Amino acid sequence: MRAAILREIGDEHLDLCTDAETISPGPNDIRVRITHSGICHSDISAMNGTVSLGAPLVLGHEGAGIVEEVGKDVSRVSVGDHVIAVWSPPCGGCDFCQKFHKPNLCQEVIGDMSRPYNTFIQGGEEMAGMIRLGTFADYTVLPELGVVRIDKDIPLDIASLIGCGVMTGVGASINTAKVTPGSSVVVFGAGGVGVSAIQGAKIAGAAEIVAVDLKTEKFDRVKELGATHAVTPEELPDTMGEITGGHGFDFALECIGNTKAMRQAYDMTRRGGTCCFVGVAGSDELIEFSPLELVSTEKIICGSLYGSTNARVDFHRLLRLCEGGQLDLPNMIDRTLSFDEINDGIDACRSGDVIRQVVAL
Ligand code: APR
Ligand code: ZN
Ligand code: ZN
Repeated sequence: MRAAILREIGDEHLDLCTDAETISPGPNDIRVRITHSGICHSDISAMNGTVSLGAPLVLGHEGAGIVEEVGKDVSRVSVGDHVIAVWSPPCGGCDFCQKFHKPNLCQEVIGDMSRPYNTFIQGGEEMAGMIRLGTFADYTVLPELGVVRIDKDIPLDIASLIGCGVMTGVGASINTAKVTPGSSVVVFGAGGVGVSAIQGAKIAGAAEIVAVDLKTEKFDRVKELGATHAVTPEELPDTMGEITGGHGFDFALECIGNTKAMRQAYDMTRRGGTCCFVGVAGSDELIEFSPLELVSTEKIICGSLYGSTNARVDFHRLLRLCEGGQLDLPNMIDRTLSFDEINDGIDACRSGDVIRQVVAL
């Protein structure tokens, strides 16, 4: 089968192989035929080492497809089911799932995400899929708990986006930051995650939603997708002044992974407002804050992983919003790529020129 493999950290392109295999599913595992996989900036972060996931590695973690084979003890899904892959699936029973009400932080199903778990074989070598998935491949082997089953009439390209970027962004606005009706919101970064945060803020009833990005050519589309304003980082202080009377935004969400933008997000948050970090920065990067300022302003800083999702509930909520027209996923997709075009897609994502691209496998 085909698989796009990161050979070494630092490589600019993936090795597009046609001779890969998966291991056989264990008793509680399933094999999924991946039909679609979005390209997310975290794929780039795995390539350049911003997040250290190791190599060789089958990339891709925003995927949907059809169950092709099930292990002997699998009871929750059947062959032929349509599913979205979940990169941080809840077990339903641990302290994080129950006691702390934080199912996105459950580590019972796939363990520590950065620990490789080999499910692929290529050229005689075993290798893992990115954060246990590896959706830039025709097939992937997952625990049965690592997918959410969806209705068969839902287009799988749309569904794939929910597996990472859309859940991460919409969830950051509605689950983590808890954007309120009538509020002012600023979102840094208008890629798939940022545009999803914008759409989440709109769903939550925000009055003003300011998108901040370097790529002004994306601004028209970003406004179609819910932003009331779109500005560059340099223009933001003036826009903040006009919209908030200089107080700062009720909610600021950083969806780039850039520490300078994170610091600006904090500065642009009003006293008592919420500043939410969604983008993934490198493990050695730091931001400075004055603790005195934090106390005297009562700003709330929070991180958001996977939109604080309970995937088994939220994926269906997002699909319902999509059906109802409140969440526009088709207009987020710039283009659909073939497997052979994955490296073009990686280049376009790296440049920030696109909102989302989907690979049709
Ligand atoms: N200031 C403003 N905008 C910027 C800057 C900057 N310094 N640097 C990049 N951007 C913009 C890009 O132009 C692009 O529009 O941020 C956007 C990032 O979009 P994508 O590359 O599509 O990233 P996305 O997949 O949305 O992920 C964003 O969330 O999940 C994490 O790991 C992911 O950290 C990444 C972030
Ligand atoms: Zn992602
Ligand atoms: Zn759990």
